[in-house]
Amino acid sequence: MTLWRIPYFELSLSDEEKRAVADVLESGWLAMGPNVAALEQDFGRLLGDGSSEFAAVALSSCTAALHLAMLALDVGPGDEVICPSLTFVADANAIRTAGATVVFADVCSPHELTLDPEDVARKLTARTKAVVVVHYGGYGARTDELLELCRAHGLALIEDACHGPLARDDQGRMLGTQGDVSCYSFYSNKNMTTGEGGMLVSRHQEIAARARRLRSHGMTTTTHDRFRTHAFGYDVAEVGFNYRMDELRAAIGRVQLGRVPHFSARRRQLVLRYRSALAEVRGLEIPFANHDGDHGFHVMAVLLPRAGPSRPAVMQKMAERGVQTSYHYQPIHSFTAYREEGVTLPVTDAVAPRLLSLPLYPTMTDEQVDDVVRTLTESLAPC
Ligand SMILES: Cc1ncc(COP(=O)(O)O)c(C=O)c1O
Repeated sequence: MTLWRIPYFELSLSDEEKRAVADVLESGWLAMGPNVAALEQDFGRLLGDGSSEFAAVALSSCTAALHLAMLALDVGPGDEVICPSLTFVADANAIRTAGATVVFADVCSPHELTLDPEDVARKLTARTKAVVVVHYGGYGARTDELLELCRAHGLALIEDACHGPLARDDQGRMLGTQGDVSCYSFYSNKNMTTGEGGMLVSRHQEIAARARRLRSHGMTTTTHDRFRTHAFGYDVAEVGFNYRMDELRAAIGRVQLGRVPHFSARRRQLVLRYRSALAEVRGLEIPFANHDGDHGFHVMAVLLPRAGPSRPAVMQKMAERGVQTSYHYQPIHSFTAYREEGVTLPVTDAVAPRLLSLPLYPTMTDEQVDDVVRTLTESLAPC
C-alpha cells in the first residue's frame, strides 16, 4: 500500500523472508539464538572476503552499534570525537550518549560528500579520541588518509557503513573493513533490512567481545546459552544494555544478506540511468557522478540548480505529482540540540540546502526513473 505514485522507497521482500520468519515461529525460540549467531557468522565471513577474520555482533540498531563502538573504544567524558555534520544524527547522538564531545568536520566537496581529512586534521586537539567516517550513499570515503591521520595521533577510526553493506570503495575494498570498528544499519529503508537492526564489526576480537557483553546487560551468558547447556546463573561483569537482535529479524536478515549483490546490481543500473537522464537538466549537479563500481548506491542525491526554485518548492511540486523525495541530510549542527557558536563548515553549509534525494529501490522500473526525471524537470521550471 502506498500513498505515492512513486514512493521514495519500497521494500524488497520475497517468499523466502516469509518462510524464514515462519520457520522461526515454528522453532519455539524467538529471542536471540541460532539465527542471530548465523547472521553474525555470515556477515563477518562475507566482509572478510575469504582473507581476513571479522567478528560481527548483531544488534537492535546501528545507533546501538555506534554507542557500543564508543564504549568498547573507551570513549567517554573529557574526550572529543570528530564526525561529519552531513550525516544522520545517530552518529552525533552516540558520541554524546557516551559522554564525549562532538566536533564537526566538513565534507570534501559538493561532488564528494564524505569527511574531508584536511578539515579533520584542523579539528584535532589533545582531547580527540576517535573519528567517525560515514560512507555517504555507499560511496567510499577517504579512508586511507583518515587512517594515516588516526594512526599518527593514536586515534580510533569508526566507519559508519550504513549505506553500503558488502559495497566496495574505489580500490575494491569492502566498506567497513579498514577502521577499528564498523557499524551497519538494517533499518527498513536500507540496502538490506530486518525492519530495525544493526551490526557492529571489528577485526579486534576484544572489541567485539566487549560489545557482545554490553549488548546484553553486561551478562556473562545469554538465555539461549543457558537453555542449550543446562547451565544456570551468570555474572554481570559491567553495566550494559538490552541492544539484542531477535530471531525473527535475524532470519529475515540472513535472507536479505544473500540478496544484497542482486539489490546492489539493480541499484547501480538505476543510478546510471538517472545520471544519464539528469545530465540534460540545466544547473543540476550530481555528487559521486564518476563512481560506478561496486558501491552501495544507497542514495540518489542531486544538487538542485543554484538559480531556481527552493528545495521545499521542488519537493512540494513533486509531491503534488505523486513523487516522494527526501534529503540527506539536514546538517546536525543546525539542529537545536547541536547548535553552537563558531562552527564553520563551508562546504556542508553551501550544499545542504540544495541536496535532494530521488526515489531509489531495487524494485523500481526504468520507466519510473524516467518519470521521476520528467517530474523533477517540470518542477524546476519557472511558474
Ligand atoms: C548514516 C547513518 N548512520 C546511522 C544510522 C542509524 O541507523 P539505525 O536506524 O539502525 O539506528 C542511519 C540510519 O538511518 C544512517 O543512515
